This record gives sequence, C-alpha cells and structure tokens, in this order.
Amino acid sequence: MSDEQGRTRGREYSPITRRSLLKGAAVATGALAVGPLLQGCGAAGPTTSSSGPIKIGVLVPLAGVYTGLGEDMIQGLELYLESVNNEIAGRKVELVKEDSEAKPDVALTKARKLIEQDKVDLVTGIVSSAVALGLRDLFDSTKNILVISNAGANAVTRDRKSKYIFRTSFSNWQSCFPLGQWAFDNVGKRAFCSAPDYAAGKEDVEAFKESFVKAGGEIVGELFPPLGNNDYQPFITQMQQGAPDLVFSFYSGSDAVRFVQQYEQFGLKGKIPLVGPGFLTETDVLPQQQAAAEGIRTSLHYSHLLDTPENKKFVEAYQGKYNEVPSVFALQSYDAAQLIDAAIKATEGNTSDKDKLVAAMEATTLTSPRGPFRIDPETHNPIMHVYLREVQKVGDGWGNVVIQDLGEFKDPGA
Ligand code: PHB
Repeated sequence: MSDEQGRTRGREYSPITRRSLLKGAAVATGALAVGPLLQGCGAAGPTTSSSGPIKIGVLVPLAGVYTGLGEDMIQGLELYLESVNNEIAGRKVELVKEDSEAKPDVALTKARKLIEQDKVDLVTGIVSSAVALGLRDLFDSTKNILVISNAGANAVTRDRKSKYIFRTSFSNWQSCFPLGQWAFDNVGKRAFCSAPDYAAGKEDVEAFKESFVKAGGEIVGELFPPLGNNDYQPFITQMQQGAPDLVFSFYSGSDAVRFVQQYEQFGLKGKIPLVGPGFLTETDVLPQQQAAAEGIRTSLHYSHLLDTPENKKFVEAYQGKYNEVPSVFALQSYDAAQLIDAAIKATEGNTSDKDKLVAAMEATTLTSPRGPFRIDPETHNPIMHVYLREVQKVGDGWGNVVIQDLGEFKDPGA
C-alpha cells in the first residue's frame, strides 16, 4: 500500500511476481528449448516487418537478485504504451517478454529467439552490464536495434559502441564519477569501496575512485563480494577494520536490501557514512530497508521526489496504475518507450529499415521526467543531470530527497 505521496511500497523478490508478469507475455516461454537450435544460425540480419503489429522484445531478469528491477522496467514500458493506446503510427504494439535471469548465456539465447523466431522489430530492457556486453555483437552484426534501459557497461557506448545500440539509462561512469568530488568535499578523505564482483561493480568503484582520488582522497580498501550475496558480515567487518571516513558501495536489488540492513545490524550505520550510486536506496528496495537506510546519500539521475511538472505527472500516472511510486528503472524504460515511439512515428511506421530508425532515434529529443535529457548522437548514451539525494523520512515512509543538483554529465565516450 502507498500513501497519497506513494512513499511506501512492497517489492518482494518472490517467484510469484515473476510468474504473473510472464503470464502477460505475447509468446509463451520455452525459449530455452529453441535456444540450442538457433545457436548455430549465425548472423540473422535485421527483422523486416513493416505492417501488422509492431513487436517489441523485452529482455529483463524476472528471477534472481535483479528481479525487482526487471518488473519495474516492464511497468514503466507498459505505462507509456498504454498512454498511446498501445499503438504507434497506426500499428498495434505487442510485447514479447523474456526472462534473461541476468545471466549472459541465458540472455544471448533469449535474444536470438526474439530476433530469429519471434522476429521482433526491436528489443529493449537489459539490467546487467555483463548481459549488455554479451549481447553487443549479436545486435551489432545482425543490425537489430537494442534500446538498453538499464545496464551501464561503459564500453557499450565507448570503444564497443554500435550504431544499433542506444541507452536511455546511464553509463556506470555517469552514476558514480559525480559522487567522488562531492564525497571528498562533504563527507571525508579516506574511503573504503565495495561492490558486487562483476563488470558494473568494478566500473562503479573505478569511476568513484577516479574523481575521489583526483580531489585528494585516499582509498583504504576494496572488496568485491559475489553478486547475489546473502551474508555481508565478513565484508562489513573488514570495512570496519579499515577505519575509513566513509564507505562507497554499489549494490542493487536484493543485494542492496541485505547490504543496507546488515550495515545497520553490524553497527556501522551512524558511525561510518555510507554513500553510493542511487540504486543502493532506490524505491524498489527502500520499503524493505526502511530506517536502516536513513541518512544514506547517493548520486543518481532521478528521484521520484524531483520537483518538476513532468515528474509529478509521471509519478501520479504510475501510482494510479500500480499503486506504488516509480523507480529509476521504471523511468528509464518509460523513456525507452518514448524513444521507440518517436522514432517509429518519424519513419511513419516503417520498422524494417533499421538505418532509418537509427537516424530517427539520433534526431529524437525527449521530455523526460528526470529533467534535461538528450541522447548523445556520437555515443547513443544520455546527457543528463545527476542529483545528490539523501534518504529521509517523508510523510509516513522514506524517500530519496534531492539535496543538490550536481550538474550535467556526459560520458567521456572513447
Ligand atoms: C548493471 O549491471 O549495469 C547494473 C545493475 C543494476 C543496477 C545498475 C547497474 O542498479
């Protein structure tokens, strides 16, 4: 249940929600059965439909540590599509949802199925950086369009950028670099860093270090627990032993719930300030973290409490449909749907000429609930503002209150 400002919600990482979401899929699962068959097919080339329903493949995790993110991404996408009556340029829109499980091998099989069997017009979704890196060559070589609405892997919009891949979310650099200078100026000079042991965790720590060390800060320790971890006690103990002024951590989904709860449980809350990218306390996890998250300061390109007319409208519509407030993951997918809609309208419903669609996407300007936002035509990555937020009591719940606009950030690209 949410109050009138929708500050509380319950996101459980249960398989029940996963089943109910897949029930709405246009095509039954069973992708794993066709996977091996398709594996040898090589370059399939772009799909070619330009009449009948527009098919959008949605590839998100609906199992495991990032389940809540995947669910929110579907909700954001569906909210936007509903606002255009599930129709673009006179063609009905059909979603074909697949569960990536946030695993690169599973995601590759499912992406091939979407392209080769379902013949989707384009694909959106992708939570994990490891999955995005694993899919990059498939989309690039087959000239199929992928609109990434979360995964931040830097290379996807740098040295491994592709004409056919766009991102409405962020690069990992963008979500953490702005925090280093701010933390040095406002929190402390000696930091301990921790994040899950995979591409996004490594890139987030690097980006924070880049600006924190440049400002004059010192890194006193680094730890990379496995993704999908239950017990952070040994890691938290080591952090405490490093006696830092602050801890920088990137965790998301069920990892964020557990890390923040255990940070309090093992006595560090209130003693060693915790900072990180906003995923750590986003609205998908905050209702489970509750007071354990109080005072955590994070950097992110969104907060559902952002005080702009566009955001108010978005939050109200989202709450009206789902009875909970949107997360950054829902927002990024809402914007992915806006981008897809604008581009297909610009090509008058022709989804078969991928190069035309790419050109239309590059020329699109969107009004995002996150504030000033445009897609860099060079890298296909957003240029946007990053905000400093603090978890505070808001009404009878908790929220990420925006305390400072850190300015506009553009990924450095190459
Ligand atoms: C990523 O793997 O890029 C990733 C995952 C979850 C987040 C943010 C980034 O919340």
